[in-house]
Amino acid sequence: MLLMSLIPEPMEMLDNRNISNKHNNPNNERDKSDLEKRSLRNYSDVTSSSILGFGKLVYHPEKLLALKNGRTSFPITATLSLGNYCNHGCLWCSTAYFREAEATQINYQKLSSWLERATKRGLRGIGYVGNGEPLAFKAFDEIAYDASKLNLSQGIFTNGYLIDRYIETLSQNFTYVRVSLDAGSKEVHSALHEVRPEHFDKILENISKLLSRRKGHSPTIGIQFATHQRNINDLEQCAKICSEIGVDYLSIKPVFDRGSVKDKIEKNSLTLEQYEAGYAKALAYENEHFKIYFRPQQAISENSEQNMLMYKKCHAAQFGVNVYENGDITGCGPHHIKVGDLDTDLVKLEENIKSLANKLDLKNCPAGCRYHALNYQLHKILNSEQFADVEHINLI
Ligand SMILES: C[S@@+](CC[C@H](N)C(=O)[O-])C[C@H]1O[C@@H](n2cnc3c(N)ncnc32)[C@H](O)[C@@H]1O
Ligand code: SF4
Repeated sequence: MLLMSLIPEPMEMLDNRNISNKHNNPNNERDKSDLEKRSLRNYSDVTSSSILGFGKLVYHPEKLLALKNGRTSFPITATLSLGNYCNHGCLWCSTAYFREAEATQINYQKLSSWLERATKRGLRGIGYVGNGEPLAFKAFDEIAYDASKLNLSQGIFTNGYLIDRYIETLSQNFTYVRVSLDAGSKEVHSALHEVRPEHFDKILENISKLLSRRKGHSPTIGIQFATHQRNINDLEQCAKICSEIGVDYLSIKPVFDRGSVKDKIEKNSLTLEQYEAGYAKALAYENEHFKIYFRPQQAISENSEQNMLMYKKCHAAQFGVNVYENGDITGCGPHHIKVGDLDTDLVKLEENIKSLANKLDLKNCPAGCRYHALNYQLHKILNSEQFADVEHINLI
């Protein structure tokens, strides 16, 4: 694959579609059996009332009302990308090609001022995820401090290696810390994250340190396991380790066909039955304090190379936006349609976000979009009459 020639100039907005069109399924082909598996009627989100699900929308009635009445509203959450550097080299990394451009990081002053203005308008939380490793950026501590002064809820996805640098910040100011471990042994971790074998033990030590410093159950600390034929045999061992060190949950998801998949690692070939067998073994370690989450629809979606597109519009941006290291703001990572930047007037930003729902061609959504479950809930709220009898919604 001719990647280098496709990489835009540094500082230009990186667009997933320029560097990988693998999420496009232009014909949007659906054979009947797939359609049946993916229909909203069959869909049920077992995680909806958990910390990973979107049942929590009930805590934001004003945002739901705004959507229902066709009004703008400021998103509840923003996902931040502090920069495009990472100290790991996961073979399947969805953002691998963002790192082929020059190393960049977010402008701290601009972000800080945006957070202050955005909070006044309705922002309630931020999630550090992004195009690299959030803990690898010096600005992390300052931003986390500013955010905690603004009373914003904070969460982070991290590979875990640098947690020891920020134990105080994470244990005192965060709502969740999720470590992308993806292995139950140093051999598998080292091979798939392309790091020295010592990383695995250090990450586990870091997690234990963090667990010992948290106040009560905050932050929640979870492990994520992106599952592929190369690591599924480690899943049970990972569950065992999780239950022994005392994390709150293990989230099992598929390795999706994004980023460097098919370039650095073969495409995921696991079947739903294989996931379910792995999940069943892991479940043996579940207990009152340690939960295991697995959403079969994510596996079905990856297998059929499409998202669950049985709703007509995606309204996710009205609930969460993405802020990138170059200051650009998008309503959706994969579609990457810019709705503004850190300098955009916030009223204008809200308008742009609202009109984005009419611009997204849902045929181009990648499999496994995290907001599928959110859109599913919203679809039900906006079309409640269709669900009145099936779900007895009128409190009868
Ligand atoms: C891109 S990383 C950035 C944050 C941090 N470096 C980390 O690894 O947690 C965000 C999350 O995406 C997951 N991820 C990356 N590529 C993926 C893929 N192709 N399929 C499924 N999950 C993927 C990672 O495992 C991680 O949990
Ligand atoms: S998944 Fe996270 S840790 Fe792994 S290479 Fe990508 S950004 Fe780095």
